[in-house]
Formats: sequence, structure tokens, C-alpha cells
Amino acid sequence: MSSKMIAPSILAADFANLQRDIEIINKSDADWFHIDIMDGVFVPNISFGAPVLKAIKKYATKTIDVHLMIVDPDRYVDTFAELGANILTVHYEACPHLHRTIQAIKSAGMKAGVALNPHTNVNHLENIIHDIDLVCVMSVNPGFGGQHFIENTYNKVKSLKALIKNKNADTLIEVDGGVTDQNAQKLFNAGADVLVAGSFVFNANNPSEAISSLKYSD
Ligand code: DX5
Ligand code: ZN
Repeated sequence: MSSKMIAPSILAADFANLQRDIEIINKSDADWFHIDIMDGVFVPNISFGAPVLKAIKKYATKTIDVHLMIVDPDRYVDTFAELGANILTVHYEACPHLHRTIQAIKSAGMKAGVALNPHTNVNHLENIIHDIDLVCVMSVNPGFGGQHFIENTYNKVKSLKALIKNKNADTLIEVDGGVTDQNAQKLFNAGADVLVAGSFVFNANNPSEAISSLKYSD
């Protein structure tokens, strides 16, 4: 059974009205805040860093799900723990010693996530799936909001779900990028537990209704 959670991505919020947008998410049916940290090296874009997360944390009342799109994320594990991240996700492609990184995240008191770029096979996680709390399947190439959903994601989610079941693990599956009301239910049906949505939520006239439409439509 999938849990059907929604994690609005703050990257698509209005940074000049951040407190207002955070309160909208607090009062909505959303489950988590998704925070995209980009370094301009691992991905071709820079988003924001610690000072902005600190401001978000001041008002956010839900789980803080941090997605690090940075090289050498080990350097910042303690920083994000201190900032109050509940889940810290690193990229498979950025971690030559993934097992060590995962252990460091957990030792710092956070849940550990691993994100996979669109070309990365889910089977690369076969020997570490037990240690991972969440796998974030990228359904766009990371770096920007508002991109087009990659259709092969359904197959990846299904293969990942089978791997998790087969290994008797309790890892959550998150899908990130291009999520709309056109693909949300199909993704939940394929085995996704959490859907990240940026532009679909914050470009909507009523973000709260947009969140509910992702969570409850069938
Ligand atoms: C992409 C980010 C996503 C992004 C999602 O690199 O990881 O979380 O904010 O935005 P949308 O939903 O607009 O694709
Ligand atoms: Zn993200």
C-alpha cells in the first residue's frame, strides 16, 4: 500500500512572499516541505542555501525534506542536521562512498534519502536498499523547476517497488519533477509514496486545492 504523500517544492514559491507561501502549505493537505539545494556544479543552476532554509524552518510546521543537488554532500551533513532537516537526500551520482554518506546522515539524526538521475538504474541500489529510508526517483533532469515529466519514470518506479519488496525493505519511493494531476495517480499506482510538486502547486490559482487534487484524485 502506498501512502500518497505530497511534498510541495519551495523552489517554485514566491521568495518575496515566502512566509505567506509557507503558511499556505502549513494549512494544506501537504505532508512535507521539499527543499531543493543546488550548487551550480552538480547541476547547472544555483538555488539557495542555509540562510533561506533557516527562514523556512522558522515558520514551517511539517517535515523538512532536503534534496541536495551538490557535489561532495558529506561536507554539509552536520550543517543540514543543525538547520533542522528531517530527511536529507543525496544524489547517487555525487557519492563515491554512498554507504558512508548514508551512515553519516543517520548518525546526525536524520532519515537518509538517495536520489537517482533519469539515466541511473534502480538496480545500483540493490546492495544498499536496506540502509536507505527514501529513494527519490528524478522524473526530470535535476536543476530546474517547471520541466517536462519523463515517461520512463513509471517503469523505474515499478522496478524500484519490486526491488524494495524483494529485499523486504521499508524504503519510501519519492518522485520529483514534472508532477501534475495528469500523472499523480498513475505514479501512486506504480508504487510511489511521495510526490514532489513545485510549479503545479505554486503556479495554481489555489495552491491548496492543487495539493488536494494530487493527493485525492483517482
Ligand atoms: C528539480 C527539483 C525539483 C523541482 C520540481 O531539480 O529537484 O524538486 O523543484 O519542480 P516541478 O514540480 O516544477 O518540476
Ligand atoms: Zn527536488
